[in-house]
Formats: sequence, structure tokens, C-alpha cells
Amino acid sequence: MLSHDPANQPEESLLPDPRPIGVFDSGVGGLTVLHECLVNLPAEDFVYLGDTGWFPYGGRTHQEVRRLAFRNTSFLVRLGVKLIVVACNSATAVALPELQAAFDTPIVGVVMPGARAAVQATRNRRVGLMATEATVGSASYQRALHALDAGIEVFSVACPRLAPLIQEGDVFSEVVEGAVREYVAPLRQSGVDTVILGCTHYPLISPMLRRFFGASVLLVNSAEEIAREVVEILDRKGFRNAAEREGDYRFYATDNPDVFREVGTRFLQLPIRQVELWDGHAVPVRPPERECTCG
Ligand code: DGL
Repeated sequence: MLSHDPANQPEESLLPDPRPIGVFDSGVGGLTVLHECLVNLPAEDFVYLGDTGWFPYGGRTHQEVRRLAFRNTSFLVRLGVKLIVVACNSATAVALPELQAAFDTPIVGVVMPGARAAVQATRNRRVGLMATEATVGSASYQRALHALDAGIEVFSVACPRLAPLIQEGDVFSEVVEGAVREYVAPLRQSGVDTVILGCTHYPLISPMLRRFFGASVLLVNSAEEIAREVVEILDRKGFRNAAEREGDYRFYATDNPDVFREVGTRFLQLPIRQVELWDGHAVPVRPPERECTCG
């Protein structure tokens, strides 16, 4: 039987592991994930890549999103991270299995933790999903939900306008309200009691979403769910950093670092001191550690 008692772990796995954790997203939305990770893992260092130059991913073809996800992952692997969090539902939905198959570094994504929380929470087994077109089109949430409970009814709504509107800034504007009203309506009609916020931008508008869904509908925030999973993985792999230190976080963006700092601060709700520009091309990416045989 497997035991997670530290006394039964190999001795080297109990040593502090100072390598940072890598996190990437198509832009600033993944900072909601980073925030939850910082709250739950205060001793860890993080390096965040926001692919703002290629945002949004949601309307791109699966092939394009996959290519971008591979180059982001290669970039973080080169920085020597110990774990990669794909803090983007669109990239997770279309590329996670291929990434995991191609790289030796452990990689986790946001879909499964959100699906698991929704299955655990729903009482009427009617679960809604709000996400980008790429995520909805991939049916990956549907697969994840049905792998956990084949009797769940899934109602998906693609919300192509939401992430760009949220990223623009005025999250409580009437334009955002109009879009939310439109996207929420079919889910309300379907009688779901649980809705997965399947895009890392959406936690920023959860006050508005809660107003339109009402108190009887539970909103699953994939940022909180993935943070829990990251904690568990670090513990089980013996990858934790020394507990007594305060971790640091740093940023790369593929477009204007000043804009990233300004918009990103709202998402992270913590100061962003320095953002380095990566042009998305110049750093030669190491080829995948393993030949990818899938997809
Ligand atoms: N972070 C992306 C996601 O979770 C935002 C949307 C996009 O890039 O289109 O899907």
C-alpha cells in the first residue's frame, strides 16, 4: 500500500527543492491561478509567462494553441522549473496530454481539478461550463466530467467575447454585463446547479456572475482547484521548498511589459515589480525532452 507518511519517503525527497514552479497562460488570466498558488505555497518561487503577444488563444485553431503551448513549455523547462502549471484552460484543453507525453518535467493543467470539484459539488448532476471556443470545442471538460461520473449532464457555452473584454480592463462595465447576461441565459434555462468557470479570466467577474446565476448555483473556480492539486503534487513528490522562507515570483511577457504590469496587478492583486520581455522567438527552445508520439 502507498504511504504518504514522510517517514516512509526516500531521504533525498525530504531535502528542500529550491527550483521554481513555472506557470503559463495566454495572458494575464493565469495570474488568478498564480495568486492561489502563492497563497497556498508561500515558500515556493514562481516564474510566470504571459503570452500576451499571442492573446487570445480561445479563437485560435487547436494546432496553433498546441504549438504555442509547446513553445511556452520549452521556455519554462529551459529555466529549470520543477513543475509546470498550464494556467490556461484553452491550452490545457487542447494540448495537455501531448505536453505531458513530450516532456520529463511534471505538467498539470486546469481542466481535471475543475471537473473533479464540479462532480463533487453538484446535487442534480447538471453541470454548466463557461469557456472559450477552443476549450468548448475540445470537449475536454465533457470527457473529464464523464470520466468521473458518466451520468453527469454537461451544458457548455462558448463565451468568445468575455476574456478579451475582461482583459481590456473595465470588468464591471455595461458591455461586460451585457455579455454575461447573454452567456448565462442558456445555462440558467438548463437548470444547472454548478457552473465551471472554464477560463482563468472569469474569476475576476465572479461578483457579476453570481448576481446573474443567483445564490443557488455554485461557481467552480479552476484557479482554486488547481492550486490544491499543486500542493498535493509537491508534497507527494517531495518537491517542497524550505518552509521557513518567503518565496518570490517573477514574470515574462511576450508583449509590452508595462501593460502586463498594469493589467496584471489587478489580476494578481499583489504588486508586480518587474516584467521581462520575451519576444517569443529569440530564446531557442530546447526540443521536447521526449519524442511526442501523440496527436
Ligand atoms: N486564459 C485563457 C483560458 O483560460 C484565456 C482566454 C484566451 O486566451 O482566449 O482559456
